[in-house]
Amino acid sequence: MEIDFNTLRPGERYKVLASLVTPRPIAWVTTVDGTGRVNAAPFSFFNVFGSNPPIVAFAPGNKSDAARGVPAVPKDTARNIRETKEFVVNLVDETVGEAMVQTAAELEHGVSEIEAAGLHTAPSTLVGAPRILESPVAFECREWSTLEVGSNRLVIGTVHHVHVRDGILDPETLRLNPGQFAPLGRMASPDWYCKTGDQFEMPRPE
Ligand SMILES: Cc1cc2nc3c(=O)[nH]c(=O)nc-3n(C[C@H](O)[C@H](O)[C@H](O)COP(=O)(O)O)c2cc1C
Repeated sequence: MEIDFNTLRPGERYKVLASLVTPRPIAWVTTVDGTGRVNAAPFSFFNVFGSNPPIVAFAPGNKSDAARGVPAVPKDTARNIRETKEFVVNLVDETVGEAMVQTAAELEHGVSEIEAAGLHTAPSTLVGAPRILESPVAFECREWSTLEVGSNRLVIGTVHHVHVRDGILDPETLRLNPGQFAPLGRMASPDWYCKTGDQFEMPRPE
């Protein structure tokens, strides 16, 4: 099968890319708006891109109204980061998978997905947005820049503080303790995921 990407509509390109570029990590992003109201939503167009400085990036799009001809309105996450310049990337393991999916509901701006999903927050150390207490790892981030590429929006953030549930990392080596972290991966769009329990080691050539 050959696909001329230039002739596809954006929604069709999304289906192909999001189904094939897998598994993707999931950034479960918490933000606050200018009045301190907390928002949470998952984003799997996400990854880490460097350690000096430590940077992460994710791509919050516009609310779906845009597809219906209404002027484009950024998702609440993007809107809050525009206002506060801060966010927390919480990671998602098997224990919080279902709660994470619930927070993808498009609620009205200012309505907290956290409470609706039965989750709890804890204050962050450096940024105004709280972290999700049930999440195994949380990166406190400051917006470094937001790139607009066509109608894509790429939020790039620097990481300033990390919360890691005890037992996941070896405190001496900072390496992962085998079997202690089971992140979920996003698979084919819209609703497929993978577990990451079946891992193996493959040393590189000298
Ligand atoms: C696993 C998962 C991954 C998602 N990834 C993205 C993404 O990368 N970009 C995006 O704009 N929306 C993504 N979504 C949809 C958003 O989470 C959803 O639109 C959410 O309501 C946005 O919330 P907000 O308006 O509070 O920011 C994803 C949803 C799920 C369940």
